[in-house]
Amino acid sequence: MQLNHLSLTNFRNFARLDIDLPRRAVLLVGNNAQGKTSVLEAIYFLAAFTSFQTHADRQLVNFLAARNDNLTVARLVADYQRGKSKHRIEVRLILEPVGVLNGKRLRKEVLLDGVKRPLNEAIGHFNAVMFVPQMSAVIEGAPDDRRRYLNLALAQTIPGYAKSLSDYSQALSQRNALLKQLNERGGDPSQMTYWDEILTASGAQIILWRIQAIQELERFAARAHSNLTRGREVLRLAYDPAYDPLPNSEGQMGLKMDTPVDRSTLKLEEIRAGFMEQLRRLRNEEIARGVTTIGPHRDELRFLANGIDLGDYGSRGQVRTALLGLKMAEAEWMREKTGHQPVILLDEVMAELDGERRADLLQFLETTGQVFFTTTDLALFTPQFVQTAEVWKVQAGTVEKQA
Ligand SMILES: Nc1ncnc2c1ncn2[C@@H]1O[C@H](COP(=O)(O)OP(=O)(O)O)[C@@H](O)[C@H]1O
Ligand SMILES: [Mg+2]
Repeated sequence: MQLNHLSLTNFRNFARLDIDLPRRAVLLVGNNAQGKTSVLEAIYFLAAFTSFQTHADRQLVNFLAARNDNLTVARLVADYQRGKSKHRIEVRLILEPVGVLNGKRLRKEVLLDGVKRPLNEAIGHFNAVMFVPQMSAVIEGAPDDRRRYLNLALAQTIPGYAKSLSDYSQALSQRNALLKQLNERGGDPSQMTYWDEILTASGAQIILWRIQAIQELERFAARAHSNLTRGREVLRLAYDPAYDPLPNSEGQMGLKMDTPVDRSTLKLEEIRAGFMEQLRRLRNEEIARGVTTIGPHRDELRFLANGIDLGDYGSRGQVRTALLGLKMAEAEWMREKTGHQPVILLDEVMAELDGERRADLLQFLETTGQVFFTTTDLALFTPQFVQTAEVWKVQAGTVEKQA
């Protein structure tokens, strides 16, 4: 994947940006609050249709334009090459007036090669991997952070994942509404069967994809992490599904935490039937609680180093190294699955790494595709690297190529 041209209008502090991008590494240099992170955020947005920094898309729309104009459109356009073919992906964030009380609504449109497409279908055509040190929430944060991480990586990589996810979450809210209604007003519990079927159809597919993806990611992550720790630590990614299709993994708690559970032989139909059965068994309990208690929306993913859960017991350095290993793995996995190198976006990572890890990262990046770095300090890079890279100065929402 090669991003050839990026164009932004009314995105964050960029009223307008138009840049041609080289094949080699790009270093975005500048003081704080100039717009470096925003450039990476825009590129990532063109891959994931969401920000890694905020759930609120309207925060991305230039606020001066939003204040001055009745209707504001933030526009992001990437011209890129995927294999031999050239494409254009465009996202429009349209902030438009609704009602009478100066209310505004945000609408998101995605166009692939000029044709408007549902987000679910457009995702995965342009791929990017984003790495920010603050992403350690993926390891240390709440289960929600880990699910979001997983969903974004899988949606970009597995065709159909985003669609199944949105089917699942629609079914989930309908099912929860019915559970609540049965709880509050009573009624025939067998009405649940219909929603159980819909929920488990997409749910089982998501579980199966997660089983496979986590196993594949683990393979890459374990290798990267072993290199990063000079063989001192063994990293494991443990999938902990809220509905566990493996009949006897209940006894897992008694096992050592890092004992791998192999779910790789499970078939889709097996998972679906088991999930369905378990929902039936839980029906009365779920009606009493008014909410769906099992399924992919409650899944967990744990990171273990030498058997220790890094989310609970990892040191800052261990978490940082595991995150770096995970990001390297994500890039390699994406390439293996899609056949194309994702664009790699690294926000202020050098400052957070020690000298050895910095060298490891630069070495790794020699084997990957197009890379974008941001930094306040070029001295964090070796002079040789700065020489081979293209350096761009970012200042107050403008970008200028350095001689
Ligand atoms: N919606 C917006 N409209 C205009 N400016 C914004 C918006 N959101 C953030 N900014 C501003 O954009 C600037 C650039 O932020 P950022 O890209 O994080 O800078 P850097 O990474 O260079 O430190 C900040 O000054 C921030 O206040
Ligand atoms: Mg920044």
